[in-house]
Amino acid sequence: MRLSGMITALLPGAYARQNPRIELEDAVVIVTGAARGIGAEAAAMFAAAGSRVWVTDVDADDAARLASTIDGARSARLDVTDRGAWGSVVDEVLTVDGRIDILVNNAGVMPTGPFAEEAAATTDLILDVNVKGVLNGMGAVLPTMVDAGRGHIVNVASMAGMLPLPGMVTYNASKFAAYGASLAARREYDGTGVTVSAVLPSAVRTELSSGADLGGVLPTVDPDDVVRAIVRTVRTRAARVSSPGWVLPGWALVDQFVPESVERVVRELVGHRQAMALDPVERATYLARLERQTLEHSQTKDQTR
Ligand SMILES: NC(=O)c1ccc[n+]([C@@H]2O[C@H](COP(=O)([O-])OP(=O)(O)OC[C@H]3O[C@@H](n4cnc5c(N)ncnc54)[C@H](O)[C@@H]3O)[C@@H](O)[C@H]2O)c1
Repeated sequence: MRLSGMITALLPGAYARQNPRIELEDAVVIVTGAARGIGAEAAAMFAAAGSRVWVTDVDADDAARLASTIDGARSARLDVTDRGAWGSVVDEVLTVDGRIDILVNNAGVMPTGPFAEEAAATTDLILDVNVKGVLNGMGAVLPTMVDAGRGHIVNVASMAGMLPLPGMVTYNASKFAAYGASLAARREYDGTGVTVSAVLPSAVRTELSSGADLGGVLPTVDPDDVVRAIVRTVRTRAARVSSPGWVLPGWALVDQFVPESVERVVRELVGHRQAMALDPVERATYLARLERQTLEHSQTKDQTR
């Protein structure tokens, strides 16, 4: 690399400029786990910016219902743990829209509680959805994006991908993995025109976090705050961003420089053990959904063994 090239590569925004620009207007966007929560908000916000949005979810009816309320959106059933289903959805999108510009790997589950009491089927569900779902998604769209020489993947990880919390051993493991996979894929595909960003929300007001005292251990945001961070990455191509933005650098500093003894005292003061026992009454709708999904997922796994 020549000196002038090296200097240009060091300027702010250089990475984004080195990759083909993606205009939101007319971009073809797949959002996973888009029937509700952050995914639903992402589908609506991309569509409002003029993108052609595919609302996908394991809950096909809810995805179809949501898509019918968004101008120009289409829906498809997509269980992100199922590689075959990914192949079919990618084929369908390419047939209808001719390309895939943006994938938002958002689908996720969050069972919580004491780790030693966690059922094997629950561990499987968390890892299959939150880790393999992300890997399957990247693997499914990368060939067509690399062929086209442009594309952007946003992996919705979590601050739980950096910040360990009691009651979330497997969820933490899954989000650390999703975050790591995102950073590694970003480096592996550097130079192909395809970029990968990780978005790490703090606590978000959705069904997934119901029953948590959201005023407690983590700052809390709304789904549209997270989605603004997701959408911004299309322009900035940032490697990682949190929502709110200050949480990631703030935690990185604490993790690096605050002694564990001090941190332990602060953690106890802010009630960091709450994920060991979220309010089961407030969480009833989510727990019922999780129970159905865990059963269906383990039956599917048994059939394919
Ligand atoms: N809510 C929070 O506090 C929070 C914080 C940090 C990160 N996140 C992450 O944000 C993402 C979205 O979470 P949310 O809060 O909107 O949750 P949510 O439960 O409101 O929505 C998640 C959606 O994912 C879908 N889904 C689950 N398993 C799936 C599968 N196998 N295939 C396809 N779809 C599937 C669900 O049906 C649901 O529609 C998740 O990855 C979650 O881990 C959430």
